[in-house]
Amino acid sequence: GVSPQRWGTMLMSEGLLNLFQPGSENSVMGSDNCCNPLSMGAIKKMIEEEIPGIYVLSLMIGKNVIQDTENGFFMDVNEQVSEVCGQLAQDPKLKGGYNAMGFSQGAQFLRAVAQRCPSPPMKTLISVGGQHQGVYGLPRCPGESSDICDMIRKALNSGAYSDLIQKHLVQAQYWHDPLNDDLYKKHSLFLADINQERGVNETYKKNLQLLEKFVMVKFLQDTVVDPVDSEWFGFLKTGQAKETETLQESVLYKEDRLGLAAMDKAGKLFFLATEGDHLQFTKKWFDANLLPYLR
Ligand SMILES: *[C@@H]1O[C@H](CO)[C@@H](O)[C@H](O)[C@H]1NC(C)=O
Repeated sequence: GVSPQRWGTMLMSEGLLNLFQPGSENSVMGSDNCCNPLSMGAIKKMIEEEIPGIYVLSLMIGKNVIQDTENGFFMDVNEQVSEVCGQLAQDPKLKGGYNAMGFSQGAQFLRAVAQRCPSPPMKTLISVGGQHQGVYGLPRCPGESSDICDMIRKALNSGAYSDLIQKHLVQAQYWHDPLNDDLYKKHSLFLADINQERGVNETYKKNLQLLEKFVMVKFLQDTVVDPVDSEWFGFLKTGQAKETETLQESVLYKEDRLGLAAMDKAGKLFFLATEGDHLQFTKKWFDANLLPYLR
């Protein structure tokens, strides 16, 4: 028979993941959990074992893990996205197209890749705990004494939308303050841009719709992403910080500014939910629910 077309796969993880230290209470290594989220290597290996012959590229920004971790906090996301686009375009194994799986903030970054860089073509985008409408609240930090968390918290409170902080603090680049909607729309250099808050870029809309599937995984007991609705592209209603709305209730969807309503109608959006805290899943769950999208 004809062997099915097999696309390469690209993995990306960043930022929030790096807040979890191995061996801390947050580490998910152990018992029947599949992967320490710090280790994209483990996930890569698992996919390669389950789908023989598949090519998996695990992306690292910077030259090593330490630099990668620092960049996860301090690099301009728009620059990161264009660096990734460059890497993908140069990889001969991805020329025919690829599936992409982004963990945590890696997911919204990969959506930006889909919207900005249609070549090589991304076929399926799997967002695992991504924050497509950003966050409002600082993700839980490992240990309240952590200096880096205090510093980030302070910076976000004092001026998440100042140009300097936008350019240098990754978390600010998807900070979405529903009480300061105008500021967010005007000054968010990354998220407001890819979410069409300042205007509709028809290229973004067209490119996103080139995806065959857009899969969004939400963790039902997520204590890191606030609000967790963001993992399904929902968010807090504008002007207050209590009530949330779904993607389908949002202006983004109703005016179809990004093509998501059209994709929904075409059956291209998949909303998955799983028990567990941020990025905690079992190998069994991963195999049953995510692997089929990579085959
Ligand atoms: C729309 O997005 C494309 C792709 O990133 C970009 O080249 C173009 O400059 C954008 N247009 C506007 C008006 O921002």
